Amino acid sequence: MKRKEAKDLRSARWYAPDDLRSFGHRSRMMQLGYAEEDFRDRPVIGVLSTWSELNTCHSHFPERVQDVKRGVTQAGGLPVEMPALSVDESFTKPTSMLYRNMLAMETEEMIRSHPLDGVVLMGGCDKTTPGLVMGAISAGVPMIYLPAGPMLRGNYAGKTLGSGSDAWKYWDERRAGNISDEEWNGIQAGIARSAGTCMTMGTASTMTAIAEALGLSLPGASSIPAVDSGHKRMGTDCGRRIVDMVWEDLTPDRILTAPACRNAAVVAMATGCSTNAVVHLIAMARRAGVALGLDDLDALGRTTPLIANVRPAGNEYLMEDFYYAGGLRALMARIDDRLDLSAMTVTGKSVGENIEGAQVFNDDVIRPLSNPVYHEGSLAVLRGNLCPDGAIIKPAACDPKFQVHQGPALVFDSYPEMKAAIDDEDLDVSPDHVLVLRNAGPQGGPGFPEWGMLPIPRALIRKGHRDMLRISDARMSGTSYGACVLHVAPESYVGGPLALLRTGDTVRLDLPNRTLDMLVDADEIERRRAAWVAPKPRYERGYGYLFQRHVTQADKGCDFDFLQSDFGRTAGEPDI
Ligand code: FES
Ligand code: MG
Repeated sequence: MKRKEAKDLRSARWYAPDDLRSFGHRSRMMQLGYAEEDFRDRPVIGVLSTWSELNTCHSHFPERVQDVKRGVTQAGGLPVEMPALSVDESFTKPTSMLYRNMLAMETEEMIRSHPLDGVVLMGGCDKTTPGLVMGAISAGVPMIYLPAGPMLRGNYAGKTLGSGSDAWKYWDERRAGNISDEEWNGIQAGIARSAGTCMTMGTASTMTAIAEALGLSLPGASSIPAVDSGHKRMGTDCGRRIVDMVWEDLTPDRILTAPACRNAAVVAMATGCSTNAVVHLIAMARRAGVALGLDDLDALGRTTPLIANVRPAGNEYLMEDFYYAGGLRALMARIDDRLDLSAMTVTGKSVGENIEGAQVFNDDVIRPLSNPVYHEGSLAVLRGNLCPDGAIIKPAACDPKFQVHQGPALVFDSYPEMKAAIDDEDLDVSPDHVLVLRNAGPQGGPGFPEWGMLPIPRALIRKGHRDMLRISDARMSGTSYGACVLHVAPESYVGGPLALLRTGDTVRLDLPNRTLDMLVDADEIERRRAAWVAPKPRYERGYGYLFQRHVTQADKGCDFDFLQSDFGRTAGEPDI
């Protein structure tokens, strides 16, 4: 492979010429205390860290940045830390999803506008992975993704606790009156007890697995717990490797091919992925110019068994167990006949070479194909007169009795309306009802909130019911479960058919045949459509205004239309 020469480094355009501007760049580097030999003729590596003191999952990043920088320096590069928007899942309102595209824009422009030859992207908490990756794909310089790593298992009173999933589970028990204040406080203190991302197979672990399967992380990186010393070593390895990637000119377009995106989808299905993975994977693929769509995912979902026995799809294990069982390399080795092993990765080697010799150490955690957690993959795509552009459901997380279900709709127009009704002991609702929440999509939420696991009405909880068919144009947390149909597209806020459904209409789900319909006369639907009045836009200024004008629907990945790779010409490199 032909290696780049120092004069061809991107950063050399800032630092090398004998002109006034470059004099300015060099003198300002010297202001930072660098000698010319520190920054001339060396790859300058941006370490993009999504750290903040309110990002609970990335609290180890200040230390980890130093590990990455050590590797960059060892390999002869100059590392520069550059903080990027720290979209955290727990605190960001109205939703973190509102800001994924903002992080993507920031990442792209930060790389483009600075003298960087390559980047190490540090993220992990849900939206940070797709946000960083989408932006870096568009920027086009060599990149490695360093996942934050999952936190340790939760623990309370001898019980293992999983992020999200166990919070929902014990909350239902508390609503049913089965949990004391003391127990509840103990669960609160024990469910998140170290740095790192949610340790169930939620959105964070799914997305970091996807990044690795795309070939964007060093092999095994996504499975290492955040506080394991192996995670520090992985950080340093990333620093060393990115410098070589710059010399090799191993840019993302050589990695993010259609087979790579397909590999990522297969791995996502086999891990029991979060429903959010669909939106993010489509968005990342489209940034790379790969037309991955819902139908491709459904086809892969029908043929890929779910083999990672990790909550919430599995009923026992967590990411720490998954790591000890061999991690993602071992899982990928188990499904190697379904992957394109020739796909290129950040190692400069193929997927096949990266997973060579990987072993499973616990067949109950990473199941053999002969004994899967679920015979099909994690996701199914539905279509019908309620969701002409698709909706998704997690078949494995849905009580089998709801897989073919017909019942009367109970429709809520907003989250507050639903919340008030759901705890009303006199609510007129039966276990056969279909709970519907609308105006909770990309524009309606706004920002596509994770409200899709609608709570079971209190009156039914008391009678022991723990699942119902639920439908919304919202997303749900990757740690949620239940018979929840999500991402109904087009969303109701822009006039999708969900906007036309009324309480009492019959709704029918047929999961084996992948359909979701309202059993309402076509003429009547047309009458309702003609009478429908579009709601007022949510925003009249600010970032939300930009968001609502340009966000695409769920089936297109919710990227901004103008950021997609086929939108138009990019200005290209800055004219320095
Ligand atoms: Fe950060 Fe779950 S809250 S990964
Ligand atoms: Mg989440």
